Amino acid sequence: MNSMILHGDICYSADQNTLITRLDSYLVCVDGICKGIYDKIPEEHAQLPLHDHGKKLIIPGLIDLHTHAPQYAFRGLGMDRELLEWLSTYAFPEEAKYSDLAYADRAYTIFTEGMKRSATTRVVVFGTMHREATKLLMDKLDRTGIVSYVGKVNMDRNAPNTLREASAEASIKDTERFIKETSNKYRNTQPIITPRFIPSCTDELMEGLGRLAAQYRIPVQSHLSENPGEIAWVRELCPWAENYGAAYERFGLFGKPQKTVMAHCVYSDDREIAMMKENGVFIAHCPASNMNVASGIAPIRRYLSEGLRVGLGSDLAGGQTESLFTAMVEALQVSRLYWRLVDSTATPLNVAEVFYMTTKGGGEFFGKVGSFEDGYECDAVVIDDSLLPTPRPLTVQERLERAIYLGGDVKALSAKYCRGKQIELSA
Ligand code: GUN
Ligand code: FE
Repeated sequence: MNSMILHGDICYSADQNTLITRLDSYLVCVDGICKGIYDKIPEEHAQLPLHDHGKKLIIPGLIDLHTHAPQYAFRGLGMDRELLEWLSTYAFPEEAKYSDLAYADRAYTIFTEGMKRSATTRVVVFGTMHREATKLLMDKLDRTGIVSYVGKVNMDRNAPNTLREASAEASIKDTERFIKETSNKYRNTQPIITPRFIPSCTDELMEGLGRLAAQYRIPVQSHLSENPGEIAWVRELCPWAENYGAAYERFGLFGKPQKTVMAHCVYSDDREIAMMKENGVFIAHCPASNMNVASGIAPIRRYLSEGLRVGLGSDLAGGQTESLFTAMVEALQVSRLYWRLVDSTATPLNVAEVFYMTTKGGGEFFGKVGSFEDGYECDAVVIDDSLLPTPRPLTVQERLERAIYLGGDVKALSAKYCRGKQIELSA
């Protein structure tokens, strides 16, 4: 039962600065949990099935801390607006279509196929405000074997009629029903409380969602300090809040009592950063989206040096692709621009750091996930980097670096495992 041995050239993060590499080694997985890496198969595990990947590269499955499943339909389109205008022009009209279950079925089939083909093994997902369509998304995601949190989105103000819930009360009721219908129903997916962002949710709604999060012990996801126009709007809407984060914290939707992931955090001030640290809020860094909708560059060097929890997010379709290899490259590149153009003390990120964020850093949101250390859940992806040929001999670290920069999932992904179980890469 989900027990096996993986053979290949193994690479994972021990911490932010330390990559562990093991050439020609055997990773033992018992009941979905990592039980050591060996030069030879240990006697006591000799009966386990061997998945021999030869000289291929084996790394932990990648963790996507923030994406929007319904927006996959317009990925790669509509990158010509800033956030708020982009939402009303592209995102909201698309999301309104998910009241139609036949459309949702087609769209979410395409989304889950995309996720299957990727190197992602865990994902934290926004659906839409529609309960039935979001349950359909969970049915489909669950079947992939990828592990996910999925949210029915809440929005009871500042949205078109087609995408605004009737009242705070109706939204809270529907969310409670969603939680009851989906908690512990699936093997691989669980519900997550999902107020879209402060401009979409009245105080009354936020209060109700805080109650549900505490009562049912459900984690929380939302957006934070993404774009200057959005932040100014939050200041108008919540004059009582000392910062954007406080508008969540007041309602128990900011890391306490339930774990919380906030996307972006491009403009968090000292106080908001201190609050995130104190409450253990996870930050989903989404560099593609921050470029595409002209939000800016998040100060990730600062977050890492202050010990905040940071992972990467694809943020489809603000981000153009689900590929976390692409997201890693973008995180590296924007950190160099930030250092050059914004803050010469903010040392650019390096490969080990972004790899850590995309594996063990983001994985912490799911528990002991994102590493091959003993006791971690065994999520792995196998990369055939002989498909990225070079005459040079390369170290494992160099192979990892190339797989990241050259798009290891698109060209060279050859197998994927989640909790010790092999999952299909396509239909
Ligand atoms: N803020 C509120 N909704 C969204 C969304 O769909 N995408 C992004 N990038 N930011 C948001
Ligand atoms: Fe988002």
